[in-house]
Formats: sequence, C-alpha cells, structure tokens
Amino acid sequence: MIERFIDQSSRARLASGNPHKLAELRDALPGWEIELLGTGAFPPEEGATFYENARAKAEHGRAAGDPEAWVLGEDSGIEVAALGGAPGIESARWAEDGVARLLAELKGIEDRRARYVCELVALSGDGEELRGTGTLDGTIARTRRGGEGFGYDPVFVPLGETQTVAELGNEWKASSSHRASAARALTLALRRRSQRGGARGTS
Ligand code: IMP
Repeated sequence: MIERFIDQSSRARLASGNPHKLAELRDALPGWEIELLGTGAFPPEEGATFYENARAKAEHGRAAGDPEAWVLGEDSGIEVAALGGAPGIESARWAEDGVARLLAELKGIEDRRARYVCELVALSGDGEELRGTGTLDGTIARTRRGGEGFGYDPVFVPLGETQTVAELGNEWKASSSHRASAARALTLALRRRSQRGGARGTS
C-alpha cells in the first residue's frame, strides 16, 4: 500500500558516496528508512543543472537498486552572487579546499551574498519520478567558524542568523537547511501522489 510510504515508512536508497548527506537526509526525513546505495563509482556529473545531475545519480542507482525501494539522487552546491553564481554545480570539484578558494576570491569584496541549492530526485521501481528543491539564502563570513556540517558550512551564515551553519549545527540543519527544504518538498510530492491514489500499480 502506498499509504505505508507516507504514514509509516518509505524505504529508499541514496545514490551518493557522501555520508554527511545520508545523515542529514535521515534527520530531515524521520519517517523514512534510508540506506546508502553501494554502487561503487558514480558516472561523472555532466548535467547543466542540479536537477540533471540529481536525476543522473538516481538513474545510476535505479539500475542497481531494490525494485521495492525508492532511489534518491541528490545534487547540491553553493551559488555566490559576486562570482556570478559560481561555483554552483561545480561546488564539489571547484578546488581541493573550496572554503579557502572562496575566502580568497571574496577578499576585499563587500557583496557576500550566497545561497545553497539542493535538488532531490526520487525514482520508484517502475521509473516514476518525484522531485523536491530547496534553497537557503545567506552570506559568506570572513573567517571559518564552527565544527559541524561539511563543505562550505564553516563560512555560510544563513539570512537572519549571526552564526555559521557549522556553528548552528546538525540539529539546525535538520530543520532549516536547503536539504531539509528539499526533503519537505519531496514529502509533499509523495503525499500528493498518495492522494491521487498512487501511481501505476504501486499502491
Ligand atoms: P555534489 O552534490 O556531490 O556534487 O557536491 C555538493 C558540494 O556542494 C559539496 O561537496 C559541498 O562542497 C557543497 N555543499 C552542498 N551542500 C552543502 C551543505 O549542506 N553544506 C556545505 N556545503 C555543501
């Protein structure tokens, strides 16, 4: 029954090698049982958008996944206004130390505006797609602060906060991050699907 996916638990495999993303999605989707999909090497990220890359990861995982479980593909990154939206989809491979490069590129620049983007794509066993997008606006701090999270979190200060995401911590991320927003949007899409009566024989 599709209601099981909504009211009790959705089983999903996350097509990612990033354990931070797994932990954050587990926090953000408490009704779900999410495991990392051990598919070995992922194909190179060649899409032009976060969505295309998330979809490609999900498709890659779909081929290897349990047909009863959803496969989740996730792509995310940071867009910096003064850098024309860079590094964007290049965030993971922009530099060996992305934070150091970001601080260097923004040296002496007053416009520190940035945003995180997260795109989640869920593919069912028969290839049905659900999507969720989330963003988080903020600014880039002048020095690193805090020890939680990962990636650019030590220099990302969300709008309305004075601390970096790495200082605000994992509990804050579970409710307020771009990944948490994307997870909520995905849950909503799943709920709407359920209200329509499920799809193509999965209910
Ligand atoms: P990808 O989605 O695996 O291509 O990589 C996303 C990259 O964007 C990460 O390696 C980080 O550099 C950055 N990123 C995405 N989400 C976050 C986040 O929640 N905190 C900090 N950095 C992030």
